[in-house]
Parts: sequence; C-alpha cells; structure tokens
Amino acid sequence: MKTCTDETVIPSKTDIPVVGKAKIKNPISFGRFVSEDDAVLVNISKRNVEKNRQSKKAPEHTYFEPAGPRSRVYFDPSKTKVAIVTCGGLCPGLNDVIRAIVMTAHHQYNVSSVLGIRYGLAGFIPQYEYDVVELTPDHVSRIHEFGGTILGSSRGPQSTEEIVDALERLNVSILFMIGGDGTMRAASKVVAEISDRHLAISVVGLPKTIDNDINFASPSFGFDTAVETAATAIKGAHIEAMGAPWGIGLVKVMGRHAGFIAAQSALSCQEVNFVLIPEDPFDIEGKNGFLAALEKRMRERGNAVIVMAEGAGQDLLEVSEETDPSGNVCLSDVATLLRRHILRHFQDKDITPNLKYIDPSYIIRSVPANANDRIYCSFLGINAVHAGMSGRTGLVISRWNGKYVHIPMELVTQGKKRINLCSNYWRAVLESTGQPLNMKNEPEAS
Ligand code: F6P
Repeated sequence: MKTCTDETVIPSKTDIPVVGKAKIKNPISFGRFVSEDDAVLVNISKRNVEKNRQSKKAPEHTYFEPAGPRSRVYFDPSKTKVAIVTCGGLCPGLNDVIRAIVMTAHHQYNVSSVLGIRYGLAGFIPQYEYDVVELTPDHVSRIHEFGGTILGSSRGPQSTEEIVDALERLNVSILFMIGGDGTMRAASKVVAEISDRHLAISVVGLPKTIDNDINFASPSFGFDTAVETAATAIKGAHIEAMGAPWGIGLVKVMGRHAGFIAAQSALSCQEVNFVLIPEDPFDIEGKNGFLAALEKRMRERGNAVIVMAEGAGQDLLEVSEETDPSGNVCLSDVATLLRRHILRHFQDKDITPNLKYIDPSYIIRSVPANANDRIYCSFLGINAVHAGMSGRTGLVISRWNGKYVHIPMELVTQGKKRINLCSNYWRAVLESTGQPLNMKNEPEAS
C-alpha cells in the first residue's frame, strides 16, 4: 500500500513580522514598487480549497506576500550594514546568491557595508577566530563563475546568544542566512533572541538544499544544476550498460530523505529502468522484489540502468546510530548491498553481469550553477535585500506558483517535502522507467 501525501498543507498564517514601521523613501529610482495589497495565492488546487472549506481549520484561500522593493524602507540605506552567512552542505548557486545580495545592497541601496561571515554560524563565534570579510562589488563580480561558496560553510548549531552578541558588536542591521531547514530553525531562534533584546535587526533566510526537500521552495536553487550534472553520470552508465553483454549501470545520487534528484535526473534521461527512492520501500529478493524485476528486464532487453537515491532502502540495512554535526543520521551504504545482491543473483544462474557502478557524489553539488539556477539565485538575492531593507524579518524568500514571495520562516522548518507516490510526477517516473508500481512482497500469512 503506497503512502499518498497531500501536495500542499495550506498554512493559515502567512503574515511577515517587521522590526519597525518603514518610513524612509526608497532610494531606488526605477521600476515600480510592490503594492501592499498585492498577494500571491498559496493554494491552486481546487481539492485543497474544498478541503479547507469543509474543515474550517484554515481559510479557503491563503496568500503569500509578493517579494520586491517597497516604496518605503525601514533602514536608512547609507547607514546600514548587512551581513551574509552560508551554512550546511554546498549547493550550486551559493556564490550567485552572495553576488546578487552584494550588488543590490551596494548599487541599489548604497549601504555602508556588506560583511561576509566565514564558515557558517561558527564565523560568529569568537572562539573560532575566523575573520569577517568586507564584500564589495569588485570582490564578488566574478564569483558566480565558480562552484561552492566564497565564504566557506559549516554544519552544526552554535549558541544563539553568541550569534546575536556578534551582530550587536558588528552593528549589523540585516542578516542574510543561506541554508537548509536546520539553518532556518537556527534563524528562527536568532529572530526570537533579537526580539527579546528589543533590537531592530532583520533576519532574512534563503532556503538551500540540492535534495529539493524544503517545504514551500519549489524547486530549491541549485537543484536544476545538480540534476543536470547527475544526468551526465546516468548517460555514462547507460553507454556502459549498452556496451557489454548483460550490462547493468548503477548510479547513486544524493537525496537523504527525498528522491527528487534521482527521479528528476531519470526523467531527463528517459533511459533509466529503475528509480529507487527513500519514499518507496522495496524488497530485494522474492517474487515481487527488485531482483525479479531486474532479471525480467535483463532477459527481455539485455541491459538495464538503475538510479538510486542514497537514502533509498535504508530499512534493508542496519540503522546507524551516528549523526553528522547537523544531527542527520549517517546513512548506511545501500549501493554496496545492492551490488552484492545483483552479482550473486545472476551468478547463481550462471550469468556474469557486467555491473558498472557510478557515484557522482559531491560533484553534483560543487559545480557552478547552470543558466536557470543563476537567474533564479539572482532573483532570490535581489528580493532578499528588498525584504530586509523594508524591515521585514523572520521570513524566507522563495518562488511559489512562479512568483517570488515572502514566506514565514516557520513554514519551511515544519517537516520536509517528499515525493508523493500517488502524484502524476511519480506516475511519470514509473511510465518512463517501466518499473513495477510495487516492488514489495506481500507479507506472509501467519
Ligand atoms: O543535504 C544535502 C546533502 O547534499 C545530502 O544530499 C547529502 O547526504 C549531504 O548533504 C552530504 O553532506 P556532507 O557530507 O557535506 O555533510
């Protein structure tokens, strides 16, 4: 039985807090300002509107605030100092976001200074002795040509109190935090501490994960580039599989809890025969298991390509007790298990498969952003500066239904986005691969 999750849980509250009333005329001299009564519809599914109407738990229609420049700003531009920090694992487009923030803050608002915090949240903590860097337009003009983050990054929590102490010492008015859901949880704590101290400091989040599993960020920046890079590995696996008798190409891509990279890159190639994702548990052995389906494919077509997310099939392995500094459970190596089973399965039938295993690993997230992601990251960075200057805080910038919007931070920290196995999206993956709908055996009757 497949678990069908609702496409979107509709929030009942989408208001964005402010640090104070915006009274200063916006210095931007071109374009139009966002009107305060403009809004972007959250829910475009008729079914969800109907559900809300019946349950009365949330309004039938909820709206997100559109991103963009406001006619009045809270912070006095030429006296404003802002800071940027990048946290967690790398992701294509980080440098593009940094560049867009620096360029907009300097060229549009003429702020007094943009500071770069080194190596994630650790950069705020005096004990680590990391320098703070001054980011000027000259400094960042070419950084989008490179992968990674010029500021460096790190995982793991740091003391909220010490972070806010550092913001006070540095006289920062707006902090831009680029990171995943863990970083956004840290950002929410920073917002609360700032409010407890009655300070006027804005915190603007930019949601980042190549796994594409952050709620209300669809897709997250860098995902497109990661998929494109993973697709190169899959094409290689396909060529290898076709070039040998009983050729099997196995590719493992990132995706801890969600199989979006595996599914999307498989869709982009159309030559993949199995996509294994964390959302869809499978058996290896047995009548309905993966090996039976693989053998059928091999006997019919002579070769096969399998793409798996690193978090797939974790229930088949011993669960690790270890966690990384962000608190994520360290995954067990499902690819080794699968390779062993595939080889043994065919060897038991006197067949020697030519199994080629490719793990593009960190390559997919350390490359520079592609054209789509560059544009996306640039809009995110620009809109983050507009939001911060207007005095908004505790929000993240995202794209929703094709529009750039302000989303309350707590919405992206509640749960993770996963592939809905009953969606048209997953059906398209199944149609493209031809894999069975279900690779689980019926439980034995007791
Ligand atoms: O969360 C993003 C991600 O790239 C995952 O797909 C991957 O499992 C993880 O980060 C690896 O992170 P690191 O080795 O940098 O801790």
